[in-house]
Parts: sequence; C-alpha cells; structure tokens
Amino acid sequence: MRQRADGLLQQMTLDEKLGQLSQLFQFEPKKAIDEKVAAGQLGSILFVTSPAEINRLQHLAVDNTRLHIPLIFGFDVIHGFRTIFPVPIAMAASWDPAAVMRAQTVAAKEARSVGIDWAFAPMLDIARDPRWGRIVEGAGEDPYLGSAIAAAQVHGFQGDYIGAPDHILACMKHFAGYGAAIGGRDYDEAYIPETLLYNVYLAPFHAAVKAGIGSAMSAYLDLNDVPATGNRWLLHDVLRDQWKFSGFVVSDANSVKSLETHGYARDVNEAALSAFNAGVNMEMAINFTAYSKGLKPALENGQITKQEIDDAVRPILEMKIRLGLFEHPFADVDRSKQVLATPEHRTVSRETAERTAVLLRNEGRVLPLSKTAYKKIAVVGPLADSQPDTLGSWVFQDDLQETVTILAGLRNKIGAKAEITYAPGVQIARKFPSFFDDIFHLKTPPAWTAEQAKEEMAKAVTLARTSDLAILVLGEAQNMSGEAASRESLDLPGREEQLLEAVAALGKPVVLVLLNGRPLNIKWAARHIPAILDVWYPGTQGGNAVANLLFGDAVPGGKLPITWPRDEGQIPTYYAHNTTQAPENQGKRYWDEDSTPLYPFGYGLSYSAFAFSNLTLSRSEITPGETLDVSVDVENTGAIAADEVAQLYIRQQYGSTSRPVRELKGFQRLTLAPHEKKKLHFSLGNDELTYWSTATKAWVEEPVTFDVWVGGDSTATLHANFNITK
Ligand code: BGC
Repeated sequence: MRQRADGLLQQMTLDEKLGQLSQLFQFEPKKAIDEKVAAGQLGSILFVTSPAEINRLQHLAVDNTRLHIPLIFGFDVIHGFRTIFPVPIAMAASWDPAAVMRAQTVAAKEARSVGIDWAFAPMLDIARDPRWGRIVEGAGEDPYLGSAIAAAQVHGFQGDYIGAPDHILACMKHFAGYGAAIGGRDYDEAYIPETLLYNVYLAPFHAAVKAGIGSAMSAYLDLNDVPATGNRWLLHDVLRDQWKFSGFVVSDANSVKSLETHGYARDVNEAALSAFNAGVNMEMAINFTAYSKGLKPALENGQITKQEIDDAVRPILEMKIRLGLFEHPFADVDRSKQVLATPEHRTVSRETAERTAVLLRNEGRVLPLSKTAYKKIAVVGPLADSQPDTLGSWVFQDDLQETVTILAGLRNKIGAKAEITYAPGVQIARKFPSFFDDIFHLKTPPAWTAEQAKEEMAKAVTLARTSDLAILVLGEAQNMSGEAASRESLDLPGREEQLLEAVAALGKPVVLVLLNGRPLNIKWAARHIPAILDVWYPGTQGGNAVANLLFGDAVPGGKLPITWPRDEGQIPTYYAHNTTQAPENQGKRYWDEDSTPLYPFGYGLSYSAFAFSNLTLSRSEITPGETLDVSVDVENTGAIAADEVAQLYIRQQYGSTSRPVRELKGFQRLTLAPHEKKKLHFSLGNDELTYWSTATKAWVEEPVTFDVWVGGDSTATLHANFNITK
C-alpha cells in the first residue's frame, strides 16, 4: 500500500496533493464541486447519501482525471444509517460491547451499500456534565466502559481489517477533550489537567487506536488554551509519537478556519499552516478549505516542505487503497435497495433497544405489566407518538414512516386486548431553535394558545382518569440533546412535570417512560412514580422494544453509563472522584441536599434480583506486571430469566498521587435462568492497575494496597483486597 501510495505521490501535482487534503460538504449538487472533482482537486465529500449521486461524483473523479484517484465519501453514521439504533449513550447503557458491535456492523453495511466509505463515528468524548448536549453521542463518564464501547464500535464499523467487505472506515472524534466544555456549554473551552487527560479523557481514544482505527477527527474546542485543531501536542506527540497511530486526521467542520475565530491564528492562511503543522491531514469545510488557500504560499515561503505535504497525503491515499476504492469505486444501486430493506436489520435494532433500557424504579413491582389486567390504557405525553423523537439526533436517512413510536408499539402488542387512547397533554419546544432543525427537515407544529394548552392538559388528565393504567411518555424532544443542544436546566421540558403530577394525583397505576439523551431532573418522580423506565432514544423499532419491556417479553438489564444527579446543583458529579479529606461525609457536602446522586453510575434494576457472593482473589500479593484472578458468584434469586451486569471496581489506597475512590476495571453482562448461579472471572493486571502519575510523570503500577469490589453498580459492597509488592 505504501509503495502504491508513493507511486501515486510521485506523479501528483501540488494542486492534486492539496486536493486530497480537502473535504467539502455537499448538501446539494454544485457546479463548483463538480469542477474540483473533475480536475482531481478534491479528495473527499461529505453528506451525499444517494448512491446515484455518489456514483455520479465518483465517475467525475475516476473516469477522466489523470490519476483516477477515487473520492472517499464520509457521513455521520452515528447510530445507524437506514435502520436507526438506540443513540450512543443508550448503546453504552447496554454494557454489552458485542451488541454495540453488532449494531455498528449493520450500520456499516447499510452505509457502504450506498457508497459511503467512512463514518464520522464513534464519538469517544467522556462527558461528566449532563448539561452538555452531546453527552447523548458518547458512552458517558467512565474511561473503562468508554474504552470497551470504543473498541466494539471500531470493530463494528471496520470489521476485522480496514477494507473488509461491507465495512467502512471509522473516525474517532472529537480529539480531544470536547466533552469537558466548561459549564457544559457546547463549543466552549475546556481546561483539563494532565491527570484527567491521560487517565480519563484520552483513554477511549487510545483504546480505539489499539483496536486499529484508521482515522481521527480533531475537536472544535480550545483545550488548555490551544485549540485542538492546532494542537501539535495532541495530534502529533500523543497520537502519532506515543500511540503510533498511522491513519489520518480530518478536522471538524470548518475547525481549521475557526482557528482564526479562536484568536489563535491571524488569518485563514495562518490557520491552515497551524493546523497542518499540528498534524491535521484533511480539512473538512463548507464552500472552500483554508488548505486550498494557505498551503501553497506556505510552501513557497519555505514554511512547510514538499516532503511534509507528501507525508500528509500518503495516509489518505493508503486508506483509499485499503478500502478497495480504486478497484470498486461505485455503489451497486440495486443491491443497496435490498440491503437497506433487510428485515433482520430492524430485528437487530429492536433487540439492541431492549438491551439498552434502564429500569430506574419499580416500587411494588408495577412492572412488568399484565397483558390481561388492563382494559383501558391511557398513553400520555408529547413524545409517545412522535417518530423523530423516537430516533434521537443525527438521523438523516431514516424512513420516518417506518419508525415505530411507543404508542404504535403498545398497540401492536396489546391493541387487540385493551383499548389504548392517546393524548399529548403538553407541547415542548426549545427556547432557541436548533440550526439542525433545518438540516433534519423538522417541521415544528404551531404553538398552542393558552386556551388550547389548558384544554389539551385537561383532555390528557381525563383520559388517564377514565383508564385503568396511565403510561406517561415524557422527556426531551430529539433536538433537545445533540450538537448545539446544551441546557442550563435538567428539568422535564415545558409543562411535562405538571402533566406528570396531575396524572399521578389520580391514584391510578402509573408508569413513566423517559426518552432522553442525558440524565434529567426527576427528583419528584423518583419519589412518587412507582415505575420509571429510561429508554433513551430507542430507534426505528423503539416502540416495539418498549412494549416488550413493559409487558415482560423482554427484561430490562441496562445500567447507567453516567451518574444521575439529583439536580443541576450537583454538577459535575461522577463516581470516580478522589477520596479527599473527610470521606465519611461524602454524602453531606451540601447542607441543603444530599451529595449522593439520585442514581449512581452503573445502576439499573431488573424484574428479577441478583446476589453476589464468594469474592475470591487467586492471590493476595502480586508484583508489578503480574496478574491476579478475581472470581465471584452471581445468582439470579428471582423467578424469571434476566440479565445482570457484574461490575468490578478497584481503589488504589495510596500512592505517588491521590487516586479515585473507585474505578471500574471490569464488567460482564450475563443472562441467568431463574435461580441459576454462575462463577465469573475477571483479571487484574498491568492494564488495569497502571495509571499516569503526575508526580512521577510516568505510567506507574505502584507497590501499594488495592481494594476490590464486585456488584451490580458502583456502590457494590462485596469487598476484598490485595497488595502489589516490589
Ligand atoms: C460535528 C461533527 C460531525 C461534523 C460533520 C460537526 O458539526 O461536530 O461531529 O461529524 O459536523 O457533520
């Protein structure tokens, strides 16, 4: 591949090379783009999704150009292409890397069938502030879970190797630190200390590199005063020198030009130079790239060399070669229709959704619902029958007609046995609209008048009053989490809380189904609503999955990938905080509210129950580099088959720096038959016990005492300890 890429480089003109470093958005066919492609001066296009249009552009690129270099087509294949899967944070809540890999395998196959070769996913930003809208796109707060989900996604998208049939190139983003945006405000700067960078924020990216990811996207953010897109320490020293990443880096949209906006570059030319020097190979931009303007003068002035340009282009060419684009540049339009219509893909989506739901509360075992006990069921809430809101953000290719809403799913399941009525009750909308609404072609219905709002609320409450059961479907509309969707409050939007309280006051059995991309403030519900099921944005088959879960044909087994605060005042709150002084008062740090979260990291109930016992370490002492085995028995103590996620946490008791009170270092999701007991094994070795010490400026495994806990969430109490000796 290297030779073949070098062979091309020898023949390429400077303009052709700079073209390979440029990627443009195409929202609709444009003459200017066609001309660039036909002149061999554009390397990549994003946002084209029709196979016919992809083929048309690809013909321009390969038929009459001198070197016949194909375009690489990129797209935000975030949680599905045609079949939409649960949003990424939901997939992380499955704690099931195999299920995540399966979903992204389907996504890759569908995308590839239309000629898309490159997904701008997975998003690996650790996020500990639920106000940040993009928390929905990642795996939550934890580096260990985040790393496992990262590797699973890389394997799902890319297959066993880059260029595997029906697979596409993955792109880890946003490198790095975007999830730490100050105040949870999208696009704002982040200040991340070295210990958190190495031990937390960079960890999933390193895992993706180890899993063989072929590309990375630089972040929008300003990281410790150096914007990520111009940050050579990140893009070169860490990514290439330390991690030996050999793929290529693409900028985020216009993030090279925005180096000027950041006040980091004097003008667009300097922005190009600084991103190029930092290690951005390809620039993603709208209308024109800074590279196409700034790199030529930089070469002429001797600020960069021809060799450096070749080094930037080479990995892009190599990736195109590895993906097989030179041999098979075109999409097979007929086959793509079949692939996109594959019924099994929808089944995988439903099964994935069933694995991602988290049961937050189930007082008095309201759930699962009996299929015969309720003759009249009121489904209430603005999200219950909304197709876009069943899917979540980053969805462009869905067939909305096909998306099964929760109301439709409930009707599919028990419509023949019970009368199911529906009322939205309230309307919800952003105060400031999202610019994505246009891109997603979202049609916002006109706002109700005050009179209508009153009537609609009354109608919903009446429906609930005249029914035997109320299922409230509340939470956030799809444009309320995602990019440019940060919130100052985590409250249920609009008047959802009033609707909830009014329905609850009727004294009927009530179930709350939450759709959301982030933890919400459900303090009141957590005390008064007996059954709460968080289904995130469950995807194309969401309604069928939710109906299966509510009526017991599937059993919730998901766990929170993020600490769920009591309210915004606790933010940031995450389980892996340091011990600090007075650890015994940890839950009383505020005098006006408990400091403990509403639901801890790793939490999630089941319709069954589980007991952990017999925690055994194979050795009580190891030396650095050795591994010990941790075994534990998990028993399903209930009467139905169900899943539990066994989680292993450690604490390094002391060392060259202080360490978190707990850190996840192993997990396994397993299915147990009623009363079945299984022994699980985890291993603890160098990978789990090493951390970056800011005191010694090194990765260290220190000769000290460690605690170990295993259980069903991050408050597990079953405990053992061991020593590392010199
Ligand atoms: C987002 C990226 C995305 C890109 C292309 C940007 O606004 O930050 O995550 O891949 O757009 O759509």
